[in-house]
Amino acid sequence: MTSVLPSAVDQSAQQIQDLERQYLLQNYARYPLVLARGKGSYLYDLEGRRYLDLLSGIGVNALGHAHPRILKVIREQAGLLVHCSNLYYHQYQGALAKRLCDASGLARAFFANTGTEAIECALKMAHSHGRAINSDKFELIALENSFHGRTMGALSITGQAKYRQDFEPLVPGARFVTANDLAALEAAAGERTAAIVLEMIQGEGGVYPLAQEFVSKARELADRHNALLIMDETQCGVGRPGTYFAYQRLESPVLPDVAVAAKPVACGIPMGFVLANERAAASIRPGMHGTTFGGGPLACRVALEFFDVLDELLPTIRAVGAYFRHTLENLASKHAVVKEVRGFGLMLGMELTVPGKQAVLDAMAEGILINCTHDTVLRFLPPHILTEKQVDQAARTLGKVLSKLQANS
Ligand SMILES: Cc1ncc(COP(=O)(O)O)c(C=O)c1O
Repeated sequence: MTSVLPSAVDQSAQQIQDLERQYLLQNYARYPLVLARGKGSYLYDLEGRRYLDLLSGIGVNALGHAHPRILKVIREQAGLLVHCSNLYYHQYQGALAKRLCDASGLARAFFANTGTEAIECALKMAHSHGRAINSDKFELIALENSFHGRTMGALSITGQAKYRQDFEPLVPGARFVTANDLAALEAAAGERTAAIVLEMIQGEGGVYPLAQEFVSKARELADRHNALLIMDETQCGVGRPGTYFAYQRLESPVLPDVAVAAKPVACGIPMGFVLANERAAASIRPGMHGTTFGGGPLACRVALEFFDVLDELLPTIRAVGAYFRHTLENLASKHAVVKEVRGFGLMLGMELTVPGKQAVLDAMAEGILINCTHDTVLRFLPPHILTEKQVDQAARTLGKVLSKLQANS
């Protein structure tokens, strides 16, 4: 029987958008762009127009698109074993766990499929850890302006009303403090604290890095009150900061009890993970947590390949990230519409004095993909393989976009 659906390439961009509008939950506000393929740091739409990808699927496509080494292992593994459940062993989960433990300084791993799911596991660790000490020890200290995902648990520690308000009541016990406010953190922490949860760079919140003193204070308070220090590196981690994890780039590195990450680790194949020291890992005993899909052979093998490439890429990420930041600062000095440039490595934000949505659309029309978070912050999460030449290309376009924005504001 022939398919009743036209193949994607035969459909016009308009038909594709109309079909989605009719049949999908209307939860996404998509940009009017239908992507067809990618190669390296570039994406191509249905008509073959090329875009420099400075967003990499919100921080996911770490090695860009169709990277030959990733393509090779996906092809090979797809012909061997894609999924086998967590009832059985396969060759790659233990090997990847060792790799992640070696890279992070932590001891044990759990594999999920997304950042939100990984956060859920970390929250269960916190609750179980607290409950084993005292049934009142279930408070979680999280930060205002944070983002940890869309499930009820992750939302309960997400410090932005717009994500939470339609779903309350959420999981009880969250206390929010302002990022980098040491006194507020100290006041919120106590014997009832089960965990302190930090994003080393708040991503959805507008690209705000945490200060060394604040992270050190969180470590000290977690130790003082026998609570877990959880770092959510879903957006800022796994090579993007120029180190494996963002907590490693502090002048005095602070080791969390639990680290959570996802996005880039399997280069577009869904994977999230939780890493824990032995104290935190002891909170999850047989039967207390699990997943059908998490840690499958395809995702784990791709992630192992990614780590092999990443080992060689880290110095380049640091160098290109510094060059990108310098380039954005240079643009800021020439355009009054730019308020501030923030971030490090390949996680950068440019805060504007006006809303950034039009700048995103104008950049897209000029062949550059970025996005805008928190209304006024242009966010750059390019693939880890970005080159200085591509940064120069981006700067020329952004210069034009910012000049237009300034003239119209
Ligand atoms: C810091 C942080 N935590 C958690 C999440 C949720 O991850 P996912 O969308 O993979 O569920 C995100 C997503 O952007 C994030 O930035």
